Amino acid sequence: MMKNRVLVYALAVSAVCLFSFFVFFDGCAPDRAEVFKTAQIGGEEFDAAKWGEVFPLQYESWLKTKEPRPKNMSFYKRGWDTDKIIWDKLAEYPFMALLFNGWGFGIEYNEPRGHYYMMIDQREIDQSRTKAGGACLTCKTPYISRLVKETGGGIFKMPYADAVNKIPKEHRDLGVTCIDCHDNKTLELRVSRWTLAEGLKTIGKEKPSRQEMRMVVCAQCHVTYTVPKDEKMQSTNVVFPWKGSTWGNISIENIIKVLLSNPANKEWKQAVTGFKMAFIRHPEFEFFTNQSPHFKAGLACADCHMPYKRVGSFKISDHNLMSPLKDELRSCSNCHPQSADRLRARIKTIQDRTVSLLIRAGYAAATTAKLFELAHAGQAQGKQLNAALYAKAKSFYEEAVYRGIFIGAENSIGFHNPDEAGRVLGDSIAYASKAEALLRQALTQAGIQVPESINLELARYLNGRGTNKLNFKPAHEFKDPYGTQDKLLPRGARGI
Ligand code: HEC
Ligand code: HEC
Ligand code: HEC
Ligand code: HEC
Repeated sequence: MMKNRVLVYALAVSAVCLFSFFVFFDGCAPDRAEVFKTAQIGGEEFDAAKWGEVFPLQYESWLKTKEPRPKNMSFYKRGWDTDKIIWDKLAEYPFMALLFNGWGFGIEYNEPRGHYYMMIDQREIDQSRTKAGGACLTCKTPYISRLVKETGGGIFKMPYADAVNKIPKEHRDLGVTCIDCHDNKTLELRVSRWTLAEGLKTIGKEKPSRQEMRMVVCAQCHVTYTVPKDEKMQSTNVVFPWKGSTWGNISIENIIKVLLSNPANKEWKQAVTGFKMAFIRHPEFEFFTNQSPHFKAGLACADCHMPYKRVGSFKISDHNLMSPLKDELRSCSNCHPQSADRLRARIKTIQDRTVSLLIRAGYAAATTAKLFELAHAGQAQGKQLNAALYAKAKSFYEEAVYRGIFIGAENSIGFHNPDEAGRVLGDSIAYASKAEALLRQALTQAGIQVPESINLELARYLNGRGTNKLNFKPAHEFKDPYGTQDKLLPRGARGI
């Protein structure tokens, strides 16, 4: 009976396929959502509700980014779930508090949540994070291009609160909206940010295909950027450090090369070492497109984060973007016949391995940072350090830190490109270990005693942070899933 029903179903499906093959010449695939348009969107319309009058289903799913996600579904990306906890990245990865001490990221750094909150979160976070000024609005408000024009670029260096006041009052909480990704007349996907338009030119991709546009729209924001400063340390622009890179190959090596090529990219001073440094943010696009298995198979972000779903008798792209783990891995089943449990286990393995290496890289860099602190204290007391050893150690240390930040800021915990995560973190660990060895040699030569394990004094960096006096929350910490880290650095030496 059961068998017969399956057979009947299979026959019915092939009949439909055959029918559509003859009618549309494209068989059953590729799938595409139907568009039911009842009117046109006029002018430069920022108000999603107005678009919603024409496309109610997409609008409703877009609104859902406001809702908390089901809890206990993701292993490492507990964003803002039904437990309503805001997860503190500096408590999850305590070494980051030491490394980022000296500016906003070392004070408050939270896991991301739904698109609805992007402007709200910027207002609610410790305001040390918005010191760069109006530049912070570049990938948050749909009004940014208009504001850049109106102020002749002055918006970038304007104090953050003043810049926000330039947005019409009713839209100061409005984050990514329809017009950021769609042309109002044709509904085609579009690039609304000059940052990405420039970036695409730089990597030689001026005419992306329709499938490529399904990730290019995300690359307006899910990329790393720099905020070049003038002599007064005021923001002058927002730029993607992609010079020398190509589509499908924006490597961490090329990014570091660009960052180091211009002193204007050094946005902050690391307190522990006193080094001026550049920074790397959420490089989802760069990481994914650097020859990941899914990129090579022709996938785009929307294939996994905006799967088609049925609403009544309509089929739409789900605009309620989130972690696929919190969405029952619905999108994966379009291509993978494996059970959701098997895929979930596969994601966990990839992420466990990545987190283990990330923790290793983080503590290796933090240890070396404390050695630099020791070296500088020695120099202040008149000790002479071998300049060549010191310079080499510093350069290797920076190579290590940028690689660690790159994977730590990327939001998939390795999933978007597992092999590349392993490669980058392996190199980070190698650079940090070599820097530590060189520095130990320089310190010993200068007659400075170095203990076997350096106390990281993490409590100093983790407790009493910012206006809200944020403290370390042990329950937030991710421990090495393989237990290796505690053998290399006894937990007691962490100073917390
Ligand atoms: C205008 C900028 C912008 C664009 C365009 C954009 N994002 Fe985001 N995205 C963000 C920001 C900012 C956050 C974090 C918001 C917060 O935490 O307040 C975020 C969060 C997310 C999250 C986490 C959601 C959650 O529930 O925790 C996912 C997944 C995501 N984006 C995927 C995408 C994909 C895929 C695309 C392209 C289809 C895209 N985004 C386009 C800025 C953007
Ligand atoms: C093959 C499917 C796939 C593709 C393609 C893909 N992602 Fe993801 N993405 C995932 C998975 C799986 C995770 C891990 C979610 C987790 O750990 O909860 C993830 C995590 C994320 C997160 C963090 C989500 C959160 O809840 O914090 C963001 C943001 C994100 N992806 C954006 C992107 C962007 C932008 C692209 C394109 C450049 C992209 N993804 C391409 C599957 C995919
Ligand atoms: C972060 C980018 C982004 C935002 C913001 C966004 N969309 Fe989309 N939208 C997409 C992508 C990607 C597709 C898939 C397009 C494709 O496959 O060619 C899509 C498809 C659509 C479609 C075509 C039918 C379908 O469901 O695939 C409609 C209609 C639509 N969006 C309406 C809206 C409306 C209305 C809003 C605002 C409430 C909105 N979109 C906001 C990225 C976005
Ligand atoms: C549009 C089709 C498509 C979707 C959607 C898709 N995949 Fe894949 N996936 C592929 C293809 C094709 C390959 C094989 C790539 C190769 O071998 O080069 C692959 C490979 C993989 C691999 C093995 C490669 C690796 O990275 O270890 C895993 C694991 C995987 N997918 C998991 C997922 C998960 C989890 C999701 C949903 C979040 C997903 N895929 C969504 C098509 C897809």
